[in-house]
Amino acid sequence: MQAHPGFLITFEGGEGCGKSTQARLLYKKLQQHNIASLLTQEPGGTPLGNKIRSLLKDKRDFTISPLSELFLFSACRSQLVQDVIRPAMDAGRVVVCDRFCDSTVVYQGFARGLDLHLIDLVNTSATGGLKPDVTILLDISPEQGLQRKKKVHEDRFDSEELSFHQSIRQGYLDLAAKEPGRWLVLQAGLPVNKLSQLAWEYVRPLVAHGR
Ligand code: TMP
Repeated sequence: MQAHPGFLITFEGGEGCGKSTQARLLYKKLQQHNIASLLTQEPGGTPLGNKIRSLLKDKRDFTISPLSELFLFSACRSQLVQDVIRPAMDAGRVVVCDRFCDSTVVYQGFARGLDLHLIDLVNTSATGGLKPDVTILLDISPEQGLQRKKKVHEDRFDSEELSFHQSIRQGYLDLAAKEPGRWLVLQAGLPVNKLSQLAWEYVRPLVAHGR
């Protein structure tokens, strides 16, 4: 495992929690403060990742087993870390990533029921052991989150049972409670500007140091 001079911030949360908006706003703040940074997302962020993203998210007339799902997300991640995240961090950038390994633990592990040791092994292989420095969870009830998303577009994950989304919410809260030094939990129902202010106040002292 290699030490990186950069800094990795990930955003996590259930459907409709607003993490993509917050990831973008945090990236904008970093830019405004002339902190070299990069914004990316999972699944996606590379040409291969974008193709796999569409396979995973769009509703199709074929099934994808939980294990296939795990490997498809992990293929995206491996390519993204190698081509985008690792080079940016080696160059000393702050990387903001919309979802990362914790999504796999929660969605494929807690919600789909795959073995957590297997997930840990696959996550570690795909990332070369890279771990986020900070993870911001936007916590929202599944009912509220899905309601927000219905107004936009319902994908393969949105149409899962409510119990699936409940395990995701609880899974995230459990992960955050186990590792409070890494996680910042924010109430996703707060106004967008307030959330972005809270995220920035938390991140700023961590990334401004020595830059
Ligand atoms: P999003 O970009 O709108 O958050 O959509 C990504 C979807 O993929 C979302 O439903 C969560 C799911 N997902 C997993 O199930 N496992 C993963 O490892 C990742 C990164 C996402």
